[in-house]
Amino acid sequence: MEKRSQWGSRVTFILAAVGSAVGLGNAWRFPGLAAKHGGGTFLLVYLIAMVVMGIPLLMMEISISRKFRKGAIESMRGINKKAEFIGWAATSNAFVIVCYYAVVFAWVILMFVNSWQFAGMTGNSEAASGLFGELTKTTWAIEGTDIPGEVLLCTLVAWGLIFYCIRNGASSVGKVVKFTVFAPVVLLLIMAIKGCTMQGAGNGLAMFFIPDFSALADPSLWVDAIGQVFYSLSIMMAIMFAYGSYVGDDANVAADAVIIAFSDMAISVLSGIVMFSTMGGTGMLDKVTASGIGTAFIVYPQAIVNLTNIGWLNAVFGAIFYLMLITLAIDSAFSIVEGVSAAVADKFHLKPKTVTIAVCSICGVISLLFTTQAGLAWLDIVDNWTNQINLILIGILECIAIGWTFSLKKVLAEVNRNTKKFKTPYWWFAASIKFVSPVLLAGLFVWNMIDLFGAKGGSYGGYPIWSQVAAGWIVSGLVFVSGFIAKGIINKKKKAGFVEDEVVWKD
Ligand code: PHE
Repeated sequence: MEKRSQWGSRVTFILAAVGSAVGLGNAWRFPGLAAKHGGGTFLLVYLIAMVVMGIPLLMMEISISRKFRKGAIESMRGINKKAEFIGWAATSNAFVIVCYYAVVFAWVILMFVNSWQFAGMTGNSEAASGLFGELTKTTWAIEGTDIPGEVLLCTLVAWGLIFYCIRNGASSVGKVVKFTVFAPVVLLLIMAIKGCTMQGAGNGLAMFFIPDFSALADPSLWVDAIGQVFYSLSIMMAIMFAYGSYVGDDANVAADAVIIAFSDMAISVLSGIVMFSTMGGTGMLDKVTASGIGTAFIVYPQAIVNLTNIGWLNAVFGAIFYLMLITLAIDSAFSIVEGVSAAVADKFHLKPKTVTIAVCSICGVISLLFTTQAGLAWLDIVDNWTNQINLILIGILECIAIGWTFSLKKVLAEVNRNTKKFKTPYWWFAASIKFVSPVLLAGLFVWNMIDLFGAKGGSYGGYPIWSQVAAGWIVSGLVFVSGFIAKGIINKKKKAGFVEDEVVWKD
């Protein structure tokens, strides 16, 4: 047996986890949601959701996988044999997410490479907002099969970078996160300085920070805050199981989880400052929305060409913005591949590197679907199902399995193993995992279903129903039956001599 790789130090683990958590969601989703929900009010509710749900679940995943030293699938089997399928569902869902996240990453690279074009567009918002569509040749619909050469090339580069970063598991990840976590912060600071020194920035910042308490009455505020906490921390995606399994025995999981969660939030707030000061400064405050793709590829370019009267300077700011997104996205993208490959390698006793190569190749081929002219539409559908349905259901199942069929006292002892001063209290941990989190997630799920079947008449985004069935419902179905299919395969392999690991919680 090869020795399991471990993080080089405590800081390395924290950086890797922060790198995964801090992604495109911080830069383009968080500010948009804040704009939608009364600015400071959203920040407040987000903070509450983080404390009552995000942090306990993060602690739970890290400590369980550290104890078992296994990825998501085997860790869930260790919790309860019947819960293995939940680990499979998380891993399969992550597998689907990587396929399109890599393409979003590729689009960001594409925009970075083409940011020189902003130099010739000073003041021309229309040209700037059209650049993304021109480069990707997107039809905004599910029609169109051509793959633009440049997009294909960027996708290859994206996969090459992803593989390069995780080729040796924790040890190579540990090296790159030192750069990929700090670089976006520096770039964001540069942009914050530019934004905050523009005339009109104050209006934007006021919109971001000053609470509007009347927004509290709107249930969609709560739904969005819970969803964002959940999405942002990279929990229920098999990632924190993989990363936790490389954590040293002397780590203080309780403190580390709190640091990870608050660093993630701090970077969201910094992104909000950049977004709102810039939009205030360019007179575009009414254009801030929660649609990530729209913000980053359509709205933000318009702001870029209006930053100054000097074309090349705007192009430099454009390049900084997309470089920032590249460095934000890369460690989220490779963390999710690592989540999948660690889970599968642990399950079948395969060499991690072989599995990583296989996952990158298979997902690389599937991701071609999203590089086509219709890619954006397919991505929109898959993203909606994987995040609004699968992720939430996995969260509910995981909380129930761990909270109700396993001993939370044992899990908490593992969380608190090396804490001296601030031990995580049992009442808070148990209340969250047994009741608060599953109930909030169930509420979120019901809300999404009412929205889909009530308000939208069962059809998401106006795409043809067959495409929603294929890329939405069937994919969701496969995610949840994947564990049962796998079980059949494993049973066959067992007859041929394959022996499953014993995964037991040794006190
Ligand atoms: N936490 C990431 C973000 O905020 C989301 C993510 C992580 C998505 C890992 C995919 C993979 O953008």
